[in-house]
Amino acid sequence: MSHPHRFLLAGVMGMPIMHSRSPKLHNYWFAQHGLAGAYAPLAIHPDGLEAALRALPALGFSGCNLTIPHKVAAMGFVDEVDETARRIGAINCVVVRPDGALHATNYDAFGFVESLREVAPDWRADAGPVVVLGAGGGARAVIVGLAERGAKEIRVLNRSPGRAADLAADLGPPIVALPWEQRHAALADAATLVNTTSLGMEGQPALDLSLDLLPRSALVSDIVYVPLETPLLAAARARGNRTVNGLGMLIHQARPAFRDWFGVMPEATAELRAMIEATL
Ligand SMILES: NC(=O)c1ccc[n+]([C@@H]2O[C@H](COP(=O)([O-])OP(=O)(O)OC[C@H]3O[C@@H](n4cnc5c(N)ncnc54)[C@H](OP(=O)(O)O)[C@@H]3O)[C@@H](O)[C@H]2O)c1
Repeated sequence: MSHPHRFLLAGVMGMPIMHSRSPKLHNYWFAQHGLAGAYAPLAIHPDGLEAALRALPALGFSGCNLTIPHKVAAMGFVDEVDETARRIGAINCVVVRPDGALHATNYDAFGFVESLREVAPDWRADAGPVVVLGAGGGARAVIVGLAERGAKEIRVLNRSPGRAADLAADLGPPIVALPWEQRHAALADAATLVNTTSLGMEGQPALDLSLDLLPRSALVSDIVYVPLETPLLAAARARGNRTVNGLGMLIHQARPAFRDWFGVMPEATAELRAMIEATL
């Protein structure tokens, strides 16, 4: 698709923002598709968030992504929030409509599910119980993605039990909250295991989890992507489980945003993945 009369614009609003890999992803796709455009890191203070969002139409932006600390607050400054984002309780993508209205969604759930499907095309959310460790922002997106894909039982276990209970009460079936102490036993008949805690991330201790009871057929995913192979994924791989690292979620959430803004659904190519891996 060509846009001869318009320079295409989008960006990511956050604070801090210079660590974000999103500009690399979108600017790669501009070049790959021969589109004249740019995607910028936008350092926006919380006090200026509403004004920044409302300026998007006048500046000719097609939309923007939102990251820490704006994903929840921005919901109050847009005109429309879709059902998926409402269930997650946060937005990560704003699309400027032709009339200037701001439509918001959250593609983290899509990104997570696509990252599993890329590695394991035969994976199904309803193949058996899913165990999700953690109940923070990342967990909510993962759980909504799994529920939308038809998971029949999602066990959520979190160090602070109140947060898991709130999440289960908020989202309802098929989500059940279990005590953190049951995390080893909860794996006994699991078909999918997902770590959404920050444990295993660079600078953090490893997740304390025995995989002894986990079926070898289970798919094991970690949404942490620094390092690419967390101690959990290394242990799972060593015993024969298929594993999915967190980089796919980051890349795949960006694809439908680019499509919504610029009309082309871009691909997560091996070249793009290697380019991002080189920055980790
Ligand atoms: N791949 C991607 O695209 C993607 C997207 C989002 C997030 N992430 C990654 O996911 C991780 C979590 O992000 P988030 O936004 O969900 O963070 P968050 O909202 O702050 O949640 C952090 C989670 O980690 C748990 N946790 C932290 N320290 C712990 C410990 N010592 N023992 C047990 N549990 C502990 C917290 O439990 P409590 O509730 O008890 O504190 C909570 O469940 C980060 O590494 C982030 O980079 C990746």
